[in-house]
Amino acid sequence: MAMAMAVVFVASSATGVRGQLTMGFYDQSCPGVERLIGSFVRQHVDRVPTVAAALLRLHFHDCFVRGCDASVLLNSTAAGVAEKDAPPNLTLRGFDFVERVKTLVEEACPGVVSCADVLALAARDAVTAIGGPSWRVPTGRRDGTVSNMQEALDELPKPSMSFKQLKDLFATKGLGVRDLVWLSGAHTIGIAHCSSFADRLYGFRSAGAGNNTTDPTLDAAYATNLRSRKCRSPDGGNAEDAAVEMDPGSHLTFDLGYYRSLLKHRCLLQSDAALLTDPVAKADVEGIAGGPDEVFFQLFARSMATLSTVQVKTGADGEIRRNCAVVNSPSN
Ligand code: HEM
Ligand SMILES: *[C@@H]1O[C@H](CO)[C@@H](O)[C@H](O)[C@H]1NC(C)=O
Ligand SMILES: *[C@@H]1O[C@H](CO)[C@@H](O)[C@H](O)[C@H]1NC(C)=O
Ligand SMILES: *[C@@H]1O[C@H](CO)[C@@H](O)[C@H](O)[C@H]1NC(C)=O
Ligand SMILES: *[C@@H]1O[C@H](CO)[C@@H](O)[C@H](O)[C@H]1NC(C)=O
Repeated sequence: MAMAMAVVFVASSATGVRGQLTMGFYDQSCPGVERLIGSFVRQHVDRVPTVAAALLRLHFHDCFVRGCDASVLLNSTAAGVAEKDAPPNLTLRGFDFVERVKTLVEEACPGVVSCADVLALAARDAVTAIGGPSWRVPTGRRDGTVSNMQEALDELPKPSMSFKQLKDLFATKGLGVRDLVWLSGAHTIGIAHCSSFADRLYGFRSAGAGNNTTDPTLDAAYATNLRSRKCRSPDGGNAEDAAVEMDPGSHLTFDLGYYRSLLKHRCLLQSDAALLTDPVAKADVEGIAGGPDEVFFQLFARSMATLSTVQVKTGADGEIRRNCAVVNSPSN
Protein backbone atom coordinates (compact mmCIF):
# COMPACT_ATOMS: atom_id res chain seq x y z
CA MET A 1 0.00 0.00 0.00
CA ALA A 2 2.28 2.78 -1.19
CA MET A 3 0.11 5.84 -0.72
CA ALA A 4 2.53 8.70 -0.73
CA MET A 5 -0.14 11.34 -0.43
CA ALA A 6 -2.79 9.32 1.33
CA VAL A 7 -4.94 11.36 3.63
CA VAL A 8 -5.29 9.87 7.06
CA PHE A 9 -8.31 10.86 9.05
CA VAL A 10 -8.04 10.48 12.75
CA ALA A 11 -11.01 10.35 15.01
CA SER A 12 -9.94 12.08 18.16
CA SER A 13 -11.45 9.89 20.79
CA ALA A 14 -11.84 12.21 23.72
CA THR A 15 -13.09 15.32 21.98
CA GLY A 16 -14.66 14.01 18.81
CA VAL A 17 -12.70 16.65 16.85
CA ARG A 18 -11.28 15.30 13.61
CA GLY A 19 -7.67 15.99 12.81
CA GLN A 20 -6.24 15.55 9.36
CA LEU A 21 -2.67 14.48 8.72
CA THR A 22 -1.12 13.56 5.40
CA MET A 23 1.90 11.55 4.33
CA GLY A 24 4.59 13.95 3.14
CA PHE A 25 2.84 17.07 4.44
CA TYR A 26 6.06 19.06 3.96
CA ASP A 27 6.88 17.77 0.46
CA GLN A 28 6.22 21.23 -1.03
CA SER A 29 6.87 23.55 1.92
CA CYS A 30 10.10 21.93 3.11
CA PRO A 31 11.30 19.34 0.61
CA GLY A 32 13.66 16.74 2.02
CA VAL A 33 12.96 17.56 5.66
CA GLU A 34 12.09 13.98 6.54
CA ARG A 35 15.39 12.80 5.04
CA LEU A 36 17.24 15.55 6.90
CA ILE A 37 15.76 14.44 10.21
CA GLY A 38 16.31 10.78 9.41
CA SER A 39 19.98 11.12 8.58
CA PHE A 40 20.76 13.34 11.57
CA VAL A 41 19.00 10.90 13.90
CA ARG A 42 20.73 7.89 12.39
CA GLN A 43 24.18 9.44 12.72
CA HIS A 44 23.58 10.37 16.31
CA VAL A 45 21.90 7.13 17.35
CA ASP A 46 24.76 5.11 15.90
CA ARG A 47 27.05 6.85 18.38
CA VAL A 48 24.62 7.21 21.29
CA PRO A 49 22.03 4.45 21.04
CA THR A 50 20.34 5.35 24.35
CA VAL A 51 18.81 8.34 22.56
CA ALA A 52 16.30 5.99 20.93
CA ALA A 53 14.61 5.12 24.22
CA ALA A 54 14.62 8.74 25.29
CA LEU A 55 12.87 9.90 22.11
CA LEU A 56 10.36 7.07 22.08
CA ARG A 57 9.29 7.80 25.63
CA LEU A 58 9.12 11.56 25.00
CA HIS A 59 6.84 10.95 22.02
CA PHE A 60 4.61 8.66 24.08
CA HIS A 61 4.34 11.17 26.93
CA ASP A 62 3.64 13.92 24.43
CA CYS A 63 0.75 12.03 22.83
CA PHE A 64 -0.86 11.07 26.15
CA VAL A 65 -1.18 14.64 27.40
CA ARG A 66 -3.18 17.02 25.16
CA GLY A 67 -2.44 14.84 22.14
CA CYS A 68 0.79 14.74 20.11
CA ASP A 69 1.35 18.53 20.15
CA ALA A 70 4.84 18.84 21.62
CA SER A 71 3.40 20.15 24.89
CA VAL A 72 5.87 17.83 26.64
CA LEU A 73 8.71 19.97 25.30
CA LEU A 74 7.52 23.28 26.77
CA ASN A 75 9.37 24.77 29.70
CA SER A 76 7.62 25.95 32.82
CA THR A 77 6.84 29.67 32.88
CA ALA A 78 5.91 32.23 35.49
CA ALA A 79 2.32 31.37 34.62
CA GLY A 80 2.60 27.71 35.50
CA VAL A 81 4.55 24.49 35.92
CA ALA A 82 4.84 22.49 32.69
CA GLU A 83 4.39 18.76 32.03
CA LYS A 84 8.13 18.19 31.92
CA ASP A 85 8.45 19.40 35.52
CA ALA A 86 5.74 17.16 36.90
CA PRO A 87 7.33 15.01 39.59
CA PRO A 88 9.07 12.68 39.10
CA ASN A 89 10.72 14.93 36.56
CA LEU A 90 14.31 13.76 36.40
CA THR A 91 13.63 10.83 34.16
CA LEU A 92 12.51 12.19 30.81
CA ARG A 93 15.53 12.57 28.56
CA GLY A 94 16.20 13.82 25.06
CA PHE A 95 14.94 17.41 25.20
CA ASP A 96 18.29 18.80 24.04
CA PHE A 97 18.43 16.35 21.20
CA VAL A 98 14.97 17.31 19.91
CA GLU A 99 15.98 20.97 20.11
CA ARG A 100 19.07 20.24 18.03
CA VAL A 101 16.99 18.52 15.36
CA LYS A 102 14.53 21.41 15.40
CA THR A 103 17.35 23.95 15.01
CA LEU A 104 18.59 22.09 11.95
CA VAL A 105 15.08 22.03 10.51
CA GLU A 106 14.57 25.74 11.24
CA GLU A 107 17.76 26.55 9.35
CA ALA A 108 16.37 24.74 6.32
CA CYS A 109 12.77 25.99 6.53
CA PRO A 110 12.08 28.64 9.18
CA GLY A 111 8.69 28.44 10.83
CA VAL A 112 7.36 25.57 8.74
CA VAL A 113 7.83 22.25 10.53
CA SER A 114 6.18 21.68 13.91
CA CYS A 115 7.98 20.41 16.98
CA ALA A 116 5.31 17.72 17.28
CA ASP A 117 6.20 16.38 13.82
CA VAL A 118 9.92 16.63 14.54
CA LEU A 119 9.43 14.52 17.66
CA ALA A 120 7.14 11.97 15.96
CA LEU A 121 9.57 11.53 13.05
CA ALA A 122 12.71 11.49 15.20
CA ALA A 123 11.25 8.88 17.58
CA ARG A 124 10.34 6.64 14.65
CA ASP A 125 13.72 7.11 12.96
CA ALA A 126 15.61 6.44 16.19
CA VAL A 127 13.80 3.16 16.80
CA THR A 128 14.46 2.11 13.21
CA ALA A 129 18.10 3.12 13.58
CA ILE A 130 18.70 0.68 16.45
CA GLY A 131 17.24 -2.13 14.36
CA GLY A 132 13.61 -1.81 15.42
CA PRO A 133 10.58 -1.47 13.17
CA SER A 134 9.53 1.49 11.10
CA TRP A 135 6.01 2.87 10.88
CA ARG A 136 4.12 5.40 8.81
CA VAL A 137 4.20 8.90 10.26
CA PRO A 138 1.73 11.14 8.47
CA THR A 139 2.61 14.77 9.21
CA GLY A 140 0.91 18.11 9.65
CA ARG A 141 0.69 18.14 13.46
CA ARG A 142 0.56 21.62 14.96
CA ASP A 143 2.15 22.60 18.25
CA GLY A 144 0.09 23.31 21.33
CA THR A 145 0.61 26.36 23.48
CA VAL A 146 -0.28 24.90 26.85
CA SER A 147 1.62 22.52 29.10
CA ASN A 148 0.31 21.75 32.53
CA MET A 149 1.93 19.67 35.23
CA GLN A 150 -1.34 18.46 36.73
CA GLU A 151 -2.51 17.08 33.40
CA ALA A 152 0.67 15.03 33.11
CA LEU A 153 0.05 13.63 36.58
CA ASP A 154 -3.54 12.79 35.71
CA GLU A 155 -3.11 11.38 32.22
CA LEU A 156 0.16 9.47 32.17
CA PRO A 157 0.17 5.86 33.31
CA LYS A 158 1.93 5.14 36.57
CA PRO A 159 4.18 2.15 37.11
CA SER A 160 2.05 1.12 40.10
CA MET A 161 -1.15 0.81 38.05
CA SER A 162 -3.19 -2.37 37.81
CA PHE A 163 -4.22 -3.89 34.51
CA LYS A 164 -7.71 -2.41 34.84
CA GLN A 165 -6.34 1.08 35.48
CA LEU A 166 -3.96 0.83 32.52
CA LYS A 167 -6.69 -0.50 30.26
CA ASP A 168 -9.11 2.28 31.24
CA LEU A 169 -6.46 4.96 30.78
CA PHE A 170 -5.42 3.69 27.35
CA ALA A 171 -9.08 3.53 26.34
CA THR A 172 -9.40 7.29 26.94
CA LYS A 173 -6.78 7.73 24.17
CA GLY A 174 -8.58 5.39 21.78
CA LEU A 175 -6.12 2.57 22.47
CA GLY A 176 -7.26 -0.97 23.23
CA VAL A 177 -5.90 -3.82 25.33
CA ARG A 178 -3.84 -5.09 22.43
CA ASP A 179 -2.28 -1.65 21.94
CA LEU A 180 -1.40 -1.71 25.64
CA VAL A 181 0.35 -5.06 25.21
CA TRP A 182 2.11 -4.13 21.99
CA LEU A 183 3.20 -0.64 23.06
CA SER A 184 4.52 -1.93 26.38
CA GLY A 185 7.05 -3.71 24.19
CA ALA A 186 8.78 -0.30 24.06
CA HIS A 187 10.27 -1.37 27.38
CA THR A 188 12.55 -3.69 25.43
CA ILE A 189 14.82 -0.64 25.30
CA GLY A 190 15.86 1.90 27.89
CA ILE A 191 16.24 2.20 31.59
CA ALA A 192 14.19 2.74 34.73
CA HIS A 193 15.38 4.36 37.91
CA CYS A 194 15.16 2.48 41.20
CA SER A 195 12.59 4.94 42.46
CA SER A 196 10.20 3.71 39.75
CA PHE A 197 10.06 0.19 41.13
CA ALA A 198 11.63 0.25 44.62
CA ASP A 199 8.23 -0.37 46.20
CA ARG A 200 8.20 -3.79 44.51
CA LEU A 201 11.46 -4.65 46.25
CA TYR A 202 10.92 -3.13 49.68
CA GLY A 203 7.50 -1.71 50.25
CA PHE A 204 5.16 -4.23 48.74
CA ARG A 205 1.89 -4.80 50.56
CA SER A 206 0.41 -8.21 50.35
CA ALA A 207 -2.36 -9.66 52.45
CA GLY A 208 -0.94 -11.82 55.24
CA ALA A 209 2.71 -11.09 54.50
CA GLY A 210 2.76 -7.51 55.82
CA ASN A 211 3.84 -4.21 54.35
CA ASN A 212 7.55 -4.27 53.66
CA THR A 213 7.80 -7.32 51.49
CA THR A 214 9.00 -8.03 47.97
CA ASP A 215 6.41 -8.37 45.23
CA PRO A 216 5.79 -12.13 45.17
CA THR A 217 5.22 -12.05 41.42
CA LEU A 218 8.87 -11.04 40.88
CA ASP A 219 11.30 -13.82 40.13
CA ALA A 220 13.07 -14.37 43.48
CA ALA A 221 16.64 -14.50 42.14
CA TYR A 222 16.06 -11.41 40.03
CA ALA A 223 14.61 -9.53 43.01
CA THR A 224 17.53 -10.52 45.23
CA ASN A 225 19.97 -9.36 42.61
CA LEU A 226 18.24 -5.99 42.28
CA ARG A 227 18.13 -5.53 46.04
CA SER A 228 21.72 -6.51 46.67
CA ARG A 229 23.38 -4.82 43.71
CA LYS A 230 21.35 -2.24 41.84
CA CYS A 231 18.84 -0.81 44.29
CA ARG A 232 20.21 -1.27 47.75
CA SER A 233 17.87 1.01 49.60
CA PRO A 234 14.11 1.40 49.67
CA ASP A 235 14.62 5.10 49.16
CA GLY A 236 15.07 5.09 45.41
CA GLY A 237 14.46 8.83 45.40
CA ASN A 238 17.86 9.83 46.75
CA ALA A 239 20.89 11.01 44.85
CA GLU A 240 21.94 7.42 44.33
CA ASP A 241 18.81 6.65 42.35
CA ALA A 242 20.40 4.18 39.97
CA ALA A 243 19.32 3.44 36.42
CA VAL A 244 18.59 -0.21 35.65
CA GLU A 245 18.13 -1.80 32.23
CA MET A 246 14.50 -2.61 31.61
CA ASP A 247 15.33 -5.55 29.38
CA PRO A 248 18.38 -7.02 31.11
CA GLY A 249 21.17 -7.81 28.70
CA SER A 250 19.63 -6.20 25.64
CA HIS A 251 18.36 -2.76 26.61
CA LEU A 252 19.86 -1.21 23.49
CA THR A 253 18.32 -3.75 21.14
CA PHE A 254 14.75 -3.70 19.95
CA ASP A 255 13.89 -7.37 20.33
CA LEU A 256 11.64 -9.90 22.06
CA GLY A 257 13.67 -9.72 25.27
CA TYR A 258 11.03 -7.69 27.09
CA TYR A 259 8.23 -10.19 26.52
CA ARG A 260 10.46 -13.19 27.25
CA SER A 261 11.72 -11.64 30.50
CA LEU A 262 8.18 -10.70 31.43
CA LEU A 263 7.10 -14.33 31.19
CA LYS A 264 10.00 -15.21 33.50
CA HIS A 265 8.76 -12.53 35.94
CA ARG A 266 11.85 -10.45 35.39
CA CYS A 267 10.43 -7.07 34.56
CA LEU A 268 11.01 -3.94 36.57
CA LEU A 269 7.63 -2.28 36.62
CA GLN A 270 4.46 -3.46 38.26
CA SER A 271 2.63 -2.17 35.18
CA ASP A 272 4.63 -4.64 33.08
CA ALA A 273 3.81 -7.52 35.41
CA ALA A 274 0.16 -6.43 35.30
CA LEU A 275 -0.06 -7.61 31.68
CA LEU A 276 0.10 -11.17 32.95
CA THR A 277 -2.88 -10.69 35.27
CA ASP A 278 -5.33 -10.51 32.38
CA PRO A 279 -5.96 -13.70 30.38
CA VAL A 280 -6.30 -11.97 27.00
CA ALA A 281 -3.21 -9.80 27.49
CA LYS A 282 -1.22 -12.74 28.82
CA ALA A 283 -2.07 -14.88 25.81
CA ASP A 284 -0.99 -12.01 23.58
CA VAL A 285 2.34 -11.70 25.46
CA GLU A 286 2.91 -15.44 25.07
CA GLY A 287 2.10 -15.31 21.38
CA ILE A 288 4.50 -12.44 20.73
CA ALA A 289 7.28 -13.90 22.89
CA GLY A 290 7.19 -17.03 20.74
CA GLY A 291 8.46 -14.92 17.83
CA PRO A 292 9.53 -14.27 15.23
CA ASP A 293 10.67 -10.65 15.74
CA GLU A 294 8.75 -9.57 12.64
CA VAL A 295 5.39 -10.26 14.24
CA PHE A 296 6.19 -8.04 17.21
CA PHE A 297 7.60 -5.39 14.89
CA GLN A 298 4.42 -5.31 12.81
CA LEU A 299 2.14 -5.12 15.83
CA PHE A 300 4.26 -2.48 17.54
CA ALA A 301 4.40 -0.44 14.35
CA ARG A 302 0.64 -0.63 13.97
CA SER A 303 0.03 0.67 17.48
CA MET A 304 2.69 3.36 17.16
CA ALA A 305 0.95 4.64 14.04
CA THR A 306 -2.22 4.96 16.13
CA LEU A 307 -0.45 6.48 19.13
CA SER A 308 1.27 9.10 16.99
CA THR A 309 -2.08 10.49 15.80
CA VAL A 310 -3.84 10.76 19.16
CA GLN A 311 -5.77 14.04 19.45
CA VAL A 312 -3.48 15.87 17.03
CA LYS A 313 -3.96 19.53 16.27
CA THR A 314 -4.08 20.34 12.56
CA GLY A 315 -5.07 23.09 10.14
CA ALA A 316 -5.29 26.43 11.92
CA ASP A 317 -5.10 24.96 15.42
CA GLY A 318 -2.06 25.70 17.52
CA GLU A 319 1.12 27.08 15.95
CA ILE A 320 4.51 26.12 14.52
CA ARG A 321 6.80 26.79 17.44
CA ARG A 322 10.19 28.22 16.52
CA ASN A 323 11.81 26.97 19.71
CA CYS A 324 10.27 23.80 21.09
CA ALA A 325 10.69 24.89 24.71
CA VAL A 326 8.66 28.12 24.47
CA VAL A 327 5.50 29.27 22.73
CA ASN A 328 6.02 31.86 19.98
CA SER A 329 4.31 34.72 21.76
CA PRO A 330 4.52 34.06 25.47
CA SER A 331 2.92 37.43 26.22
CA ASN A 332 -0.32 36.64 24.38
C1 HEM B 1 1.75 0.99 29.97
C2 HEM B 1 2.02 2.01 30.74
C3 HEM B 1 3.41 2.53 30.94
C4 HEM B 1 3.96 2.83 32.14
C5 HEM B 1 3.29 2.74 33.50
C6 HEM B 1 5.31 3.25 31.89
C7 HEM B 1 6.19 3.66 32.85
C8 HEM B 1 7.52 3.85 32.65
C9 HEM B 1 8.49 4.10 33.69
C10 HEM B 1 8.17 4.24 35.16
C11 HEM B 1 9.70 4.18 33.12
C12 HEM B 1 11.04 4.38 33.82
C13 HEM B 1 11.30 5.84 34.04
C14 HEM B 1 12.53 6.02 34.91
O1 HEM B 1 12.52 5.54 36.04
O2 HEM B 1 13.51 6.63 34.43
C15 HEM B 1 9.52 3.99 31.71
C16 HEM B 1 10.54 4.02 30.78
C17 HEM B 1 10.32 3.96 29.42
N1 HEM B 1 9.11 3.87 28.78
FE1 HEM B 1 7.35 3.46 29.65
N2 HEM B 1 5.55 3.20 30.54
C18 HEM B 1 4.42 2.77 29.93
C19 HEM B 1 4.24 2.64 28.56
C20 HEM B 1 5.16 3.03 27.63
C21 HEM B 1 4.88 3.21 26.22
C22 HEM B 1 3.52 3.02 25.59
C23 HEM B 1 6.04 3.59 25.64
C24 HEM B 1 6.33 3.93 24.20
C25 HEM B 1 5.60 3.52 23.19
C26 HEM B 1 7.05 3.63 26.67
C27 HEM B 1 8.37 3.89 26.46
C28 HEM B 1 9.32 3.90 27.45
C29 HEM B 1 10.75 3.95 27.19
C30 HEM B 1 11.41 3.91 25.82
C31 HEM B 1 11.38 3.99 28.44
C32 HEM B 1 12.89 4.10 28.70
C33 HEM B 1 13.25 5.56 28.79
C34 HEM B 1 14.74 5.83 28.97
O3 HEM B 1 15.58 4.96 28.72
O4 HEM B 1 15.05 6.96 29.37
N3 HEM B 1 6.47 3.31 27.86
N4 HEM B 1 8.19 3.80 31.44
C1 LIG C 1 14.19 25.46 28.83
O1 LIG C 1 14.66 24.87 30.04
C2 LIG C 1 15.95 24.28 29.91
C3 LIG C 1 16.24 23.54 31.21
O2 LIG C 1 15.96 24.35 32.31
C4 LIG C 1 16.97 25.34 29.59
O3 LIG C 1 18.25 24.77 29.47
C5 LIG C 1 16.58 26.02 28.30
O4 LIG C 1 17.46 27.07 28.00
C6 LIG C 1 15.15 26.53 28.36
N1 LIG C 1 14.78 27.02 27.04
C7 LIG C 1 14.31 28.24 26.83
C8 LIG C 1 14.06 28.61 25.41
O5 LIG C 1 14.07 29.02 27.72
C1 LIG D 1 10.54 18.95 39.58
O1 LIG D 1 9.23 19.42 39.85
C2 LIG D 1 9.14 20.12 41.06
C3 LIG D 1 7.68 20.42 41.30
O2 LIG D 1 7.11 21.04 40.21
C4 LIG D 1 10.02 21.39 40.95
O3 LIG D 1 9.96 22.12 42.16
C5 LIG D 1 11.46 20.97 40.68
O4 LIG D 1 12.26 22.09 40.47
C6 LIG D 1 11.52 20.08 39.46
N1 LIG D 1 12.87 19.57 39.30
C7 LIG D 1 13.53 19.61 38.17
C8 LIG D 1 14.89 19.03 38.18
O5 LIG D 1 13.06 20.10 37.16
C1 LIG E 1 0.56 -1.66 56.78
O1 LIG E 1 0.29 -0.34 56.37
C2 LIG E 1 -1.06 0.03 56.56
C3 LIG E 1 -1.28 1.41 55.94
O2 LIG E 1 -0.23 2.28 56.22
C4 LIG E 1 -1.35 0.01 58.06
O3 LIG E 1 -2.69 0.36 58.29
C5 LIG E 1 -1.09 -1.39 58.61
O4 LIG E 1 -1.23 -1.43 60.00
C6 LIG E 1 0.34 -1.85 58.26
N1 LIG E 1 0.52 -3.24 58.63
C7 LIG E 1 1.61 -3.70 59.24
C8 LIG E 1 1.65 -5.17 59.51
O5 LIG E 1 2.53 -2.97 59.57
C1 LIG F 1 8.54 -0.37 56.44
O1 LIG F 1 9.37 0.50 55.69
C2 LIG F 1 9.14 1.85 56.00
C3 LIG F 1 9.91 2.71 55.01
O2 LIG F 1 11.11 2.14 54.66
C4 LIG F 1 9.56 2.09 57.46
O3 LIG F 1 9.36 3.44 57.79
C5 LIG F 1 8.73 1.19 58.35
O4 LIG F 1 9.16 1.30 59.68
C6 LIG F 1 8.82 -0.26 57.93
N1 LIG F 1 7.85 -1.05 58.69
C7 LIG F 1 8.15 -2.24 59.18
C8 LIG F 1 7.04 -2.92 59.90
O5 LIG F 1 9.24 -2.77 59.04
